[in-house]
Amino acid sequence: MTNTPDKAQRTYLKDYTPPDYLIPKIELDFDLGEKETRVRTQLWITRNGNHSRPLILNGEKLELASVALDGKVLDPQQWQRDDVTLTLLAVPARFTLDLETVISPITNTELSGLYASADTLCTQCEPEGFRRITYFLDRPDVLSVYRVTLRADQSRYPVLLANGNRVSSDKNGGRHHVIWEDPYPKPCYLFALVAGQLQFIEDEFTTQSGRKVQLRVYARERDLPQCDHAMTALREAMAWDEKTYNREYDLDHYNIVAVDDFNMGAMENKGLNVFNTRYVLALPATATDQDYRSVSDVIGHEYFHNWSGNRVTLRDWFQLSLKEGFTVFREQQFSAAHGSAGVKRIEDANLVRTQQFREDAGPMAHPIRPDSFVEINNFYTLTIYIKGAEVVRMLNRLVGNRAFVRGCNRYFEHHDGQAVTTDDFVQAIAQASGHDLTQFYRWYEQSGTPRLSSHGQFDAKLRRYHLRLKQVDCDLTQAHPALQMPIVTALFDRQGNPLTTRCDGGDEAGHQHTLNLTGAEQEFVFDDVDTPPVPSLLRGFSAPVILDTDHDDADLAVLMGHDNDPFNRWDAGQRLARQQILAWLDDAEDRALNESFAAAFSQTLEGDFNDRAFQALALKLPDENYLGEFIEVIDPEAIHQARRSVAKALVSRYQKAFLAHYHALKTPGPCRLDAASAGSRALRNTCLTYLMILEEESSFERALMQLKGADNMTDTLAALAALADQAHPARDEALAYFLERWREYPLVMDKWLRVQAISRCEDTVQRIAHLTEHECYQNDNPNKVHALIGAFAHGNPLRFHQPDGAGYHLVTEQLLATDPKNPQLAARLASAFNLWRRFEPGRRELMHQALERIRRHKHLSRDVSEITDRALADQKYQG
Ligand code: BES
Ligand code: ZN
Repeated sequence: MTNTPDKAQRTYLKDYTPPDYLIPKIELDFDLGEKETRVRTQLWITRNGNHSRPLILNGEKLELASVALDGKVLDPQQWQRDDVTLTLLAVPARFTLDLETVISPITNTELSGLYASADTLCTQCEPEGFRRITYFLDRPDVLSVYRVTLRADQSRYPVLLANGNRVSSDKNGGRHHVIWEDPYPKPCYLFALVAGQLQFIEDEFTTQSGRKVQLRVYARERDLPQCDHAMTALREAMAWDEKTYNREYDLDHYNIVAVDDFNMGAMENKGLNVFNTRYVLALPATATDQDYRSVSDVIGHEYFHNWSGNRVTLRDWFQLSLKEGFTVFREQQFSAAHGSAGVKRIEDANLVRTQQFREDAGPMAHPIRPDSFVEINNFYTLTIYIKGAEVVRMLNRLVGNRAFVRGCNRYFEHHDGQAVTTDDFVQAIAQASGHDLTQFYRWYEQSGTPRLSSHGQFDAKLRRYHLRLKQVDCDLTQAHPALQMPIVTALFDRQGNPLTTRCDGGDEAGHQHTLNLTGAEQEFVFDDVDTPPVPSLLRGFSAPVILDTDHDDADLAVLMGHDNDPFNRWDAGQRLARQQILAWLDDAEDRALNESFAAAFSQTLEGDFNDRAFQALALKLPDENYLGEFIEVIDPEAIHQARRSVAKALVSRYQKAFLAHYHALKTPGPCRLDAASAGSRALRNTCLTYLMILEEESSFERALMQLKGADNMTDTLAALAALADQAHPARDEALAYFLERWREYPLVMDKWLRVQAISRCEDTVQRIAHLTEHECYQNDNPNKVHALIGAFAHGNPLRFHQPDGAGYHLVTEQLLATDPKNPQLAARLASAFNLWRRFEPGRRELMHQALERIRRHKHLSRDVSEITDRALADQKYQG
């Protein structure tokens, strides 16, 4: 019996019921081959509760060779099968089920389940890939102990890895097998196997209780010299989680495998992480400073999942943020502890504000704990990840560090081995801290970005400052109740000196106060204020909200020059810059630089900062996509021109200072990777990029010199990116030079593709079309598609939205070509059209047509149709 499920089927949180059957134990026996892999599965199944419902197992794209119950082969009449399930109508309360399935890794282009990356076989099971390996209850609340036998040809697959501990191995003729056991019960999404010709580097870590863990990073032989940084990061992550959360690793082995073809960044499979090579490999010549940080962040992230995700796992996929939001937060803390905490916070907060707020403002808006979905793969979103992390950060802030860590420990210990919900997490924090978090929990259930306004009033006589905060969108209905959030606040005098005040009648005088906002409108009173203050609000971006303040330009200039909170100092400058750009956008005639802004900018440029990474960030103008958020009807070209004109005015006025920095910051000797050296490179390259805007011959020469002379990828790439943005012969010289030098390095070629994809040059669309035919481009490799098409669609508003529609056409074609092969990858391109209603009529119409064309396409995947259907149905900006 075969039938196809309704494509648009929606799954609802409210329909959750516990599983009808449990599978405490599973044995898998793989006979591995890239064309054909045979999987023999034995399941120990018990009925969960007292009922007579059938056993319905999930399975997709499986050939089923046999089914046996308690050792007896079943006739085909005793089971039913369709495209996505295997049903056994009457089963005993406790039995074993033996299955034999056949799969074909080499034809698996979705990269979900068991697939081939070059000549390595590997798996990706989260969220629903395991059902493409064998029939199973593929849901995270079914936890099993695994014993896995891997059999293969020894010369083709000398390395055979699975989760847990290696218990035995044997060889016979040209074949061998290895047996792995994972003692910790886990959901099937954490299952993994890898088979291939891989080499490894090895190290050892002794846990705080004295257990020795063998650490290995596996990669292809040629990539091995690039794995040391990943290993160092792993050791640091292990030590950090012991020190910070008292969490120790629990197996004898920790293996990381780097593969070229991977839909995501990396995956936390128990004891066997599989990584995209881009988050493992790093050497100064091939990886930028940013890449180094990403490698260490992602290594940390996947490691931290061992507790937040693996030991304590999810009840259902609606709880995804329970592991992802929390783990991103832990990763951010780890990262802040190993570099400039201020810069890290600015980058993270900026990502929330620029990217997650966009998601919240569009058709895909959803709470961090969604109520329903069509395709779970579409819900690995910025909202789940980084808004989820912000919500955990607020919890931390509200209850304080010590109570927060106590709450986390309580959560880890009480729920060890369980599959739980976001509510269990918040409860654990509430109980450990004594806080009532009922109101706070709304953050999990409500979508959209809250909007706040602030208004201050100084009373000189009473030496008092009144601060009124209002949650603007709140109403008395249930849809928008007031949220609880920490608003971290400090006051400065007009010279930028920090003021010490008492807040809300408290006795304790201090500079910074955490205001606990719970009402739709609430007033906070600061005492001992002797002079009209400049308030610094929402310090460290203490809540993921949009805050409209009553600061004027002079106030902002004070904060930009003096705020001792790095985020707010940076943000004050960004606001000044944004106002400048928006003013020029409105008025193309009267274009004079605002003097408060120009003065503050030059102070940042010429000031002596000890954190140059901060200085570099502070000099960058807000990006074009973000500026669009402040405009009713978006014209990407006008935004680009206004932004570029401001940059040009600044570099014209301060050219000398930019040049002086550029020369002074050149560090002699070979590249060093410490944070200070990286900061110098960041600042120097920011100067290079500004100077380029003047389009002087000397700047082209300077960039070419840097490109050819640099011994590190940060400087090389900065020069290449600057040149790729210019319609000048130096552009082709630079691109050809880079290609020649790095064509054998796929990850480096991704950078080469990306700088061309985001070039502002007029011929960008044609060039990208050509590049899709280039030897170093493969349309079935996610990294390549992201680097060229993804970067173009999401990171080049000027050309993606060019008025003739050529950008939309290119992305549509590539998306439709990708979809049959890899729907997840295609879906991420589809979201580039999400905000179509925000654009001026010409572009809006063209984007609408592109969406219609995609929707009408035959055999469109569920992944893409969910995105396009929601975009087309979006009523938000109609009329
Ligand atoms: N569990 C995810 C990987 C994943 C995501 C698998 C979606 C299947 C579908 C992993 O822990 C993760 O979050 N990886 C991130 C990187 C991280 C540093 C944010 C990724 O892959 O982008
Ligand atoms: Zn994760």
